[in-house]
Amino acid sequence: MSLPFNIASHLDTSLRAAAGQLGMLDRGFEPEVRVADPTHGDFQANGALAFAKREKQNPRVLAQQIVDRLGGLAGDFEIGLAGPGFINFRLKPAALLAWLLAYDSETHLQTGAARARAGQKWIVDYSSPNTAKQMHVGHLRSAVIGEAICRLLAFSGAHVVRDNHIGDWGTQFGKLIWAYKRHLDPAALAAEPLEEFERLYKLGNNAAAADSAVLTAAQQELVRLQNGDAGNLAIWQKINDASLAAFQQIYDQLGIKFDVTLGESFYNDKVDRVYRELTAGGLAQESEGALVVFHPEHPRFKTQPFIVRKKDGASNYASTDLATILYRAEHFQVDGAAYVIDFRQSDHLAQLFLTARKWFEKTGRKLPQLEHVDFGTVLGENNKPLQTRDGEHIRLKALLSEARERAYSLVTARSPEAPEAERRAIADIVGVASVQYADLAQNRSSDYVFAWDKMISLEGNTAAYLLYAVARVHSIFRKAGMDVLQPPIAGASAPATAAEINLARKLTQFADAVQLATNSLRPHYLCTYLHELAGEFSTFYGADKVIVDEAPVRARRLLLCHRTLVVLETGLHLLGLRPLERM
Ligand code: ARG
Repeated sequence: MSLPFNIASHLDTSLRAAAGQLGMLDRGFEPEVRVADPTHGDFQANGALAFAKREKQNPRVLAQQIVDRLGGLAGDFEIGLAGPGFINFRLKPAALLAWLLAYDSETHLQTGAARARAGQKWIVDYSSPNTAKQMHVGHLRSAVIGEAICRLLAFSGAHVVRDNHIGDWGTQFGKLIWAYKRHLDPAALAAEPLEEFERLYKLGNNAAAADSAVLTAAQQELVRLQNGDAGNLAIWQKINDASLAAFQQIYDQLGIKFDVTLGESFYNDKVDRVYRELTAGGLAQESEGALVVFHPEHPRFKTQPFIVRKKDGASNYASTDLATILYRAEHFQVDGAAYVIDFRQSDHLAQLFLTARKWFEKTGRKLPQLEHVDFGTVLGENNKPLQTRDGEHIRLKALLSEARERAYSLVTARSPEAPEAERRAIADIVGVASVQYADLAQNRSSDYVFAWDKMISLEGNTAAYLLYAVARVHSIFRKAGMDVLQPPIAGASAPATAAEINLARKLTQFADAVQLATNSLRPHYLCTYLHELAGEFSTFYGADKVIVDEAPVRARRLLLCHRTLVVLETGLHLLGLRPLERM
């Protein structure tokens, strides 16, 4: 007996085959397989209803005809009809056991999942902060969500390129270089370079606002930089290097490693081709000295132009982003590109994607699939965008240190006797994981409220709750003197008690949760699943003693513990969180 990894898609395939025999497939039948409410079964297929309604047939009769053709599933499932024509599937205990035995490691889970996007290549554009500035809390979301999306895509078989598309080329460098040449504090630069760049930028900005001679001088610095002046380029390079080194400290804490960091400056020499091709294809036109693209079919973009070259001839965000798409298509030859960017840039991306589609069509190129993975704002507990008391952006660095401190208090309250170094090490993981998880656990398109007490807690849909479940399984094995890497599960019998069955069925739904999260590029589906799984585990652990004398029962309970551990750790890993053995 071999039950496939993704049971929902296995059912989908079987239902399609049955509907095909009935001639329903050509008429648009969709199986609509879903995870079911446990009182009805493990999965249900609702497709007969919509189909019967369209065809003016009796849905129950139709569903029965389908069921009559599902004989091949009868070994693994109890199949039943309910209500007006729902088809319910309940996995037989032996089938649950077989699934649990087969998927015994992250590698085997991945082998099961890896069919969905096998052979595809995706580039994920995330984090992408602007240099010469500190990363603030707004950059957290792109980094955290982006990393989870990279891991989900890779897990489903895609080859993933992680690209940090930094903003390293812009008008801010004029004022910054002007101030750098006159007011640099070398000691401050050595100690906290980003603080020093921010100070210099503000200084330059204020001076330029107060004195038009300074403004002109700053603009000249920018022109010199753009024309390749060696001195200005060297300063620019220094600023970028120091910025990237500071960003790296954050990435290290979040476990992020980019494959490439191709910022806006990389595309400097690639924008002319964009202008040329857009103009030659009749897509772009001159308007008040600028080069712009209108989209006549769009309600807003027919009058709101996409400015691809500024009237002073300089490139901008649009030109570099267009050149970036071309480079990703030609150089990386990607099938898809995901842009993990704030929803406030939705118009920019919509115009970008529309323009790229027409441009690629005109030039006979194949456009990669382009996805704006948008996200909402991080709010404070007052429901306003999260800021410091004096209205400044909260720096990511300070935020992560606070998370570690707060987690340290939590860990110390729980285990005051543990050695200080161990409490620190645990708190470092719990603190950062809590912040990451709070960001991932909610639908990314919504705003989310940043609330310390809720996120660093052992209760609720939190990282600590999941990490605690992982640590608990480890302690079961530790206390029984067993090696978690070689669980004694030989001779396990099939799940039998209600708690065992509920836990086992939840484990088999991992595949479905991963697929949902990957297809929609929404990690919160996986979070919800992991939280429910940890809940089932906790119910099971409270109801059924694991280390009992009866060998087949003990083996199957250890099997359930072990597979819970494997799925939780795999899930945490997919989200970009580090698990713990003790907590
Ligand atoms: N640097 C930009 C910002 O901070 C984000 C860049 C996102 N990526 C892109 N290809 N536009 O807003």
